[in-house]
Amino acid sequence: MIERKKTQDDAASLASLKPFRLVKFFSYSGFAVFLLFTLVLSWIISNHAKKVLLERSEAYAFVVAENLSHQVFQQFVLPTVVRYGKIALRKPEQFARLDAVVRNATHGMRIQAVTIFDSRENIISYSTVATRIGRTGEGGIEYRKALAGENNSVVRSTGSLLNLLPGARPISSQLSTFIPFRQYQSNNQKGDVIMGVIEVVQDLSEDVVAITKLQGSIILTSMLIMSGLFAVLGFIVARADRIIDARAEERRRLEQQLHQSQRLATLGKMVASVSHEIKNPLGIVRSTADILGKRLKSVAPGNEHLAEIIVEETGRLDGIVREFLDFARPQEPKMAPVSVNEIFNKILTFMAPELERHNIILETSLPRDLPQVSLDQGLMHRACLNILVNSVQAMPEGGKLAVETSYEKATGMVQLAVTDTGGGMSLEKQGHIFTPFYTDKNRGTGLGLAIVKNIVDSHQGTISVDSKEGEGTTFTIALPIG
Ligand SMILES: Nc1ncnc2c1ncn2[C@@H]1O[C@H](COP(=O)(O)OP(=O)(O)O)[C@@H](O)[C@H]1O
Ligand SMILES: [Mg+2]
Repeated sequence: MIERKKTQDDAASLASLKPFRLVKFFSYSGFAVFLLFTLVLSWIISNHAKKVLLERSEAYAFVVAENLSHQVFQQFVLPTVVRYGKIALRKPEQFARLDAVVRNATHGMRIQAVTIFDSRENIISYSTVATRIGRTGEGGIEYRKALAGENNSVVRSTGSLLNLLPGARPISSQLSTFIPFRQYQSNNQKGDVIMGVIEVVQDLSEDVVAITKLQGSIILTSMLIMSGLFAVLGFIVARADRIIDARAEERRRLEQQLHQSQRLATLGKMVASVSHEIKNPLGIVRSTADILGKRLKSVAPGNEHLAEIIVEETGRLDGIVREFLDFARPQEPKMAPVSVNEIFNKILTFMAPELERHNIILETSLPRDLPQVSLDQGLMHRACLNILVNSVQAMPEGGKLAVETSYEKATGMVQLAVTDTGGGMSLEKQGHIFTPFYTDKNRGTGLGLAIVKNIVDSHQGTISVDSKEGEGTTFTIALPIG
């Protein structure tokens, strides 16, 4: 039965954890999606930026190349043909002339290189990069397209985000634009004859680096923001985890307490009925032993102590049974104004011979002006007696017993303190002493302090213990006066 209840409880606490786990799962996966989204977004943005850059650069290059082709035709081809009859770039003065025209036309225009291919064969007749002049076969598909009359361009790039890292190869990007080099008619209109191909190379590295950096900083910024959010979420989750753990722990504790008190209640009922059954026969045994003792005196003198033992032991048994009954059937307190000092005086008078026998010095501080307290005299007598008996038992070799009462006006509480110079208790032990049946005495029931606690509780009071091993113990009861 209990087992089944436990699994039910486990299932219930699992069910209450489920939504939280779901939230956790969604938060984490949400972050993963967000990260992916940021990466894709940064990629789209930078790609778009690169595309726009290329389109603009290409358009710019076409304009530059067109202008260049016009200038070269007007200022080099025409004058040279007029002057020399034909174009021969091998001649230094012709080359120098062309070079001057090209450099003039592209001056300050962010053009890295200009190359002119011949139309008859794939040979470089002119280039601002001196080493390329005279090479053959370098014009690829773009050259052929331009020869066929089509403006076109190609990008040559190396490097990516990773090349931004220190020590990596720098990013480079070149846009090569190819246009046909045409003859111009006298009205400045382009003619159909294609004399060659002009290649204009722009260096876009700087712009591409800037765009890649932008991409990097988008990723970096969102990662930073996300790790911040992630840390906050982690913190919240950890906290929630702790709270849930603490609640589960608290629940377990309460359940344990409940089980414990249920067990004790059953046990109490059993103890009460057994004790009740024992009480009567015990009384009969005791009085019979009394009578027997008297008879033995005359029948078998010298054996009276046997009967005395029975009387003594039945007395002790009676005490135990009474303790069991006190514990198992706690009485409702019947309150009436009583002087706590009077209760102590009565008990101490009764215990005086016992104290003397154990060499215990008594010190009392029972102020006369102590206000009366509304309590059940019989029950409180029992509680104080139990504490005093424990103190005496803690000092078998003698010691000092201090009994003190006081009134604290601020809290409206009367305090009863009993201090002994006995063996004291460890902290661990102090945690157990109010538990029923906890005892370390051979003939103890372990119920004395449990009964005291019940009585104090029923008076809305508190009981505390302060003890040090080898030094002594103080029990303090605080009771509200009204
Ligand atoms: N004044 C004290 N000094 C040292 N130990 C004490 C004192 N009072 C109680 N104890 C410890 O608390 C235990 C429980 O006390 P109690 O409930 O009265 O049961 P019992 O007296 O039958 O053992 C005792 O066995 C003892 O170990
Ligand atoms: Mg005791």
